[in-house]
Amino acid sequence: MKTFYLTTPIYYPNARPHVGSAYTTIVCDVLARYKRMCGYDVAFLTGTDEHGEKLERAAAAAGQTPSQFVAEKRKLFVQLWEKLGIPVSVYPEGKPDSLRFIYTTHPDHEKSVRRMLLRAKENGHITKRKYEGRYCVSDERYISDGAEPANCDVCGRPAELISEENYFFRLSEFRGKLLGLYSERPWFVQPDYRMNEVKRFVEGDLRDISVSRKRIKWGIPFPLDATRDDPEQVVYVWYDALTSYMTGIGYAQGENGNEEFRKYWRNQPGESELVHMIGKDILRFHAVYWPAFIMAAYPDQVKMLPTTVFAHGWIYYEQDKMSKSKGNVVYPEPIVEALDSFGAPGNDALRYYLLREAPFGQDTSFSYEGLIQRYNSDLANGLGNLASRTINMLNQFCAGAVPEPDAQSKGPADWNARMTIQACRAAYDNFAFSSALTAAWAYVSDANKLIVEAKPWELAKSASTDDQERLRGTLYTVAQVLRTLCVVLHPIMPATVERLWKQLGEQGDIPFIEDSAGNPVAQLIAPGTKVGRPEPIFPRLDKTKTLAKLDELAEADREREKPTAGVLREAPLQGPVQSPVQLDLAERGGEPDKSKEAFIAVPTENKPEAVATPTPASQAPGPQPPTPSPQSPALISIEEFAKVEMRVGEVKAAEHVPGASKLLKLMVDIGTEVRQVVASLAEYYRPENLIGMKVVVVTNLQPRKLRGVESNGMIIAASEGEHGRPVLVTFKEDVENGARLK
Ligand code: MSP
Repeated sequence: MKTFYLTTPIYYPNARPHVGSAYTTIVCDVLARYKRMCGYDVAFLTGTDEHGEKLERAAAAAGQTPSQFVAEKRKLFVQLWEKLGIPVSVYPEGKPDSLRFIYTTHPDHEKSVRRMLLRAKENGHITKRKYEGRYCVSDERYISDGAEPANCDVCGRPAELISEENYFFRLSEFRGKLLGLYSERPWFVQPDYRMNEVKRFVEGDLRDISVSRKRIKWGIPFPLDATRDDPEQVVYVWYDALTSYMTGIGYAQGENGNEEFRKYWRNQPGESELVHMIGKDILRFHAVYWPAFIMAAYPDQVKMLPTTVFAHGWIYYEQDKMSKSKGNVVYPEPIVEALDSFGAPGNDALRYYLLREAPFGQDTSFSYEGLIQRYNSDLANGLGNLASRTINMLNQFCAGAVPEPDAQSKGPADWNARMTIQACRAAYDNFAFSSALTAAWAYVSDANKLIVEAKPWELAKSASTDDQERLRGTLYTVAQVLRTLCVVLHPIMPATVERLWKQLGEQGDIPFIEDSAGNPVAQLIAPGTKVGRPEPIFPRLDKTKTLAKLDELAEADREREKPTAGVLREAPLQGPVQSPVQLDLAERGGEPDKSKEAFIAVPTENKPEAVATPTPASQAPGPQPPTPSPQSPALISIEEFAKVEMRVGEVKAAEHVPGASKLLKLMVDIGTEVRQVVASLAEYYRPENLIGMKVVVVTNLQPRKLRGVESNGMIIAASEGEHGRPVLVTFKEDVENGARLK
């Protein structure tokens, strides 16, 4: 049996998945279903990319350990795929027809990574040397060998300047082999225009890349040999992530993986295909680094290389990039729920819309209005109307069964069915999902036109033999159209098509397009098939009501997302803590969770506990704020709050204050100037890890000296646990230095 191994990228679990992440998984689910219908034995993998600095920082910002943080977020991905009607089996379980889910903190994955790296090392492709240059934490990639360019060329964000000794992968040695691969297998990168980008990159200045990181701990220890690791280095997160495609299918088990691995990880055109579906932003990693990593570990084994890397476009929200700070991130759950609440099949409608809107590969824009419009015109008026008319008429005029067609109609009806299947197959085989839908909808509108022209309701009243033949011919033809549509649309709208299949009186599963030997399976409806009762499959949506529901559910969803704990405390300039001042970041009331209370990091050597435990106001020096009572904490007016000026700052430099074990001296860019701030963070943060971090600075405090060093501002952090570990407040989104917090 032919095999087909399909992967989505493994997602960073630093945030919950949105429509953009769902897009790749949905497309892959369509492809996996289609390939199964063509007789392939399919394995389908997704997962989460859980190591690296980005996750380490996101966990710190959430006040959790990285492993707690990723385990929690991982669940959101599994839940979403299940909700979207895609059954998941989490590694090591690997149910054949499910979406397999790998996560890179599973211990087996470490075995895979070690094996791949050691093989590459034994083959002489990895060396140790010094790296000085820029690193983009957001994309987890090295940008340049020197200080310039300073910004990441993929996301445009400022990259950090780092200097460390690393293990380098000798990518430059693979130029010839990579170019050979691209010219011998032009289908390796698709669409074609993406192949040109990749070639240009490889033909240019292809440099060696660092495959280890010295500064972070949250990663797989870098292996030195079969038994020893380098205690100071972890594996570069992209090397780690790409290898998960192998772990997910059984590479960790045994030197050459287990039987399943050997079955699916095979690229033999016509027999076994291995396809990575990705977004356009991560093409270089998949089309350049990944084949080179594989060639380094398995020289001259072309069958170990992927068959195709397909890079699709991005989904924008009403032409704009989705971003949390713009508040325009679209999540799939409220969409599905809103449509379901009107009796429309939310999942299938979303799948249809995402695949129909633009040629696959190109960027596309998402809008709620666009979704409703597509739904009403194509699904409710087009296919839905055709289905309900056809089944109604078969019940009314043909005693509820598909009629025997007249001689004139049968041939063309069957021929058209075969042509439609062929056109859709060619489109699916070329990842041209919107073309498959165009072909299917041409068929829908021809059938609707035939009904309008033939007027079966009038033919039914006529006693003439010709009219009766024409009636049978017309209704056979449209029944045949519906049956064929069930077959070609099943991968895209599985749930609705299965309902329609039953209404058409078909028993059992929707058949394969080809059997396992590659022979086409006849797709003709049998005269005499008893149809069921007509039930609307796509009820029309009222635009105003649906938009209101979509907004309501999306808003409720965003509300649930907001953090619940977040009371900030004002710390004293010096000495013990004064009274708490409510600065509720989440704009919510309620009891704060003590263990997660946020506070302003004390720029003195005060113990963090001292900050978390307010002392009576009467003992505090200086002006006395209102005394809080346990029932009613002191309230301040908005004007009082407005006196505190907090701005976004970026740490440009950090170092220990000589002779003060707890203090760090930071240089923080607050947009208009670079400020020197002293903060008691040294017990919990290494200075080099703070560089490039966005922090919150109170900028209108009087300057003062700490251990003889001037401090010109305060940095805000949460106080975590009983020891009051400071966890710096930072941002998940890119924000400008100097932006004011309100
Ligand atoms: N963890 C890496 C991938 C490692 S694969 C070995 C990563 N993760 S990601 O979560 O940032 O992105 C995962 C995928 O989601 C990428 O293919 C990316 O292109 C895709 N998308 C993220 N936002 C998107 C849209 N708005 N639209 C379409 N796809 C987008 O990169």
